[in-house]
Amino acid sequence: MDCVKFSGDVMHIKEHGSRHLSQEGAEVGVKELIQRSQEAKKQAYCPYSKFRVGAALLTLDNSVFTGCNVENACYNLGVCAERNAISKAVSEGYRSFKAIAIASDLNDQFISPCGGCRQFMREFGPNWTVYLSKPDGSYVTMTVNELLPASFGPEDLSMKKVFDIPNEY
Ligand code: THU
Repeated sequence: MDCVKFSGDVMHIKEHGSRHLSQEGAEVGVKELIQRSQEAKKQAYCPYSKFRVGAALLTLDNSVFTGCNVENACYNLGVCAERNAISKAVSEGYRSFKAIAIASDLNDQFISPCGGCRQFMREFGPNWTVYLSKPDGSYVTMTVNELLPASFGPEDLSMKKVFDIPNEY
């Protein structure tokens, strides 16, 4: 537990206060991860699209970070649920992920991540799991690589090029 001095009082704050932990270090199953994404969906701020999305991201050490979509009056500034969850995890020092569950209100379809979110996931590797769910808890399992084949990733930036841009360019 971290301690923070505040106006002379010692205030105890939970380690990783913004992290939505299940039992620390314990295995998190797919059903629980989907439930967490459905919970996160309830926080969606989507006055424009009225399309709620939630995501729950499972890290290698079994921490769970959740996210919802957050829209904006300047429409193009809206953030997807998946990117929100990933950014929360990365900003708390987590870069290795096992899985992400995605939830929406679509009755008959498994929610499918947008292209931008697929690329955002791919930044952290092609071989982890994405659960596309329906509100009844049913789901389809895919990998990031299946969702974004022949992808461009961080490794590509250091591949051999025909032209190296000089420093003064
Ligand atoms: N949205 C997500 O949050 N994730 C997806 O994978 C698909 C789309 C959000 C963005 C926007 O707020 C709303 O859903 C409608 O596109």
